Amino acid sequence: MEHHFAQRIRRVRPSAIRQLLQLGDDPSITSFGGGYPDPGLFPVAQLREVYDHVLREQGRTALQYTGTAGIPALRAQIAERMVRDGSTCGADDVLVLQGAQQGLDLVAKLLINPGDAIVTENPTFLGALVAFNPYEPDYAPVALDEDGMDMESLEQVLADTPRAKFIYAIPDFQNPTGVTLSTQRRHRLLELAHEHDLIVLEDTPYRELRFEGEQLPTLHSLDTEGRVIHLGSFSKTLAPGLRMGYAVAHRSILAKLELLKLAADTQSSTLNMTATARFLTEFDLDAHLEAVRPAYRAKRDAMVGAMAESFPAGVQFTRPEGGLFTWVTFPEGFDAAGFMAEQVLPKARVAYVPGETFFPTTSPATQASHYARFSYASVPHEQMVAGIRRLGDLLAAS
Ligand SMILES: Cc1ncc(COP(=O)(O)O)c(C=O)c1O
Repeated sequence: MEHHFAQRIRRVRPSAIRQLLQLGDDPSITSFGGGYPDPGLFPVAQLREVYDHVLREQGRTALQYTGTAGIPALRAQIAERMVRDGSTCGADDVLVLQGAQQGLDLVAKLLINPGDAIVTENPTFLGALVAFNPYEPDYAPVALDEDGMDMESLEQVLADTPRAKFIYAIPDFQNPTGVTLSTQRRHRLLELAHEHDLIVLEDTPYRELRFEGEQLPTLHSLDTEGRVIHLGSFSKTLAPGLRMGYAVAHRSILAKLELLKLAADTQSSTLNMTATARFLTEFDLDAHLEAVRPAYRAKRDAMVGAMAESFPAGVQFTRPEGGLFTWVTFPEGFDAAGFMAEQVLPKARVAYVPGETFFPTTSPATQASHYARFSYASVPHEQMVAGIRRLGDLLAAS
């Protein structure tokens, strides 16, 4: 059948480590591999009340089609939250999406001609690469450190990449590394985007999960030129099954994204938008987050605490101030995927995501095998600590 497919589908294929990750689905394995939030933190009872009310009182409108950009009440509430977060934003500046993931797809569709380059953090979010690949881009990866994207590396990459089209950044508690872009670098990134006349795609699903330190300004709030497309999501603050995300951008960009969304799915679910809007008026999302943040902090503490106790000295890991992930650096030359298949899964009964899957290019200059992403979101405390200890023992013995 393959000869029927369009050329761009050559780039659409499962990641090489997918099979390895599936082994982590075995219930006898303690998996730190998944990227899911903790379902124990979903506000199920409140959402049940909300859906019940919406279907009882507004059932006929909540089950009807609506405009592509989303229901006005939710757009206004999102705009209000953006204003509280430092942006200038009205309801008309918001496009409701089926998760931030849809924004990644629509933005790539809007901006990328085959062979254009997307400038990304190195490593970056796998789901973004999966969304971008069908539009046949090249990638220009930028080195990261504990303060996020390295600005000297960005400067060099931009000088070397004439077909750069946009910069894709996850400034807060990046997936997969957990690092946060410093304020100074946020300003510098925008300066460089201005110098090279580039769009910036800011992806912020973890932003509201800061459990430590000061909140830093969004790139959108610092942008005076309308070049930042901001993606937000309720997946990590409410529940990912709602598929509720949004884009905020300059009206000329948003109008095109809206037409692309119309082609893709007409609109997001009216029922889910109405329920989310009602949740935001009836229940205090910020109060809900006040309970969610300490829970993730305790999980982060348990994981990095166990790593500090039981990993050998040559193994390093990030200590994120929010979000769901820590990034582990094994000694240079270590094969994290091979070690997981041959030792970790059968002996320690633990899974993680080998880092190579998150690197946008396979060039040895920008990809290496000695990294792994660990999520502390969903494994219960004792099981998490026991799993990290078993892995530590195996690393010490190897
Ligand atoms: C960096 C990043 N962007 C976007 C998404 C997609 O989130 P959503 O559920 O809003 O589509 C995720 C989900 O894990 C993510 O980690």
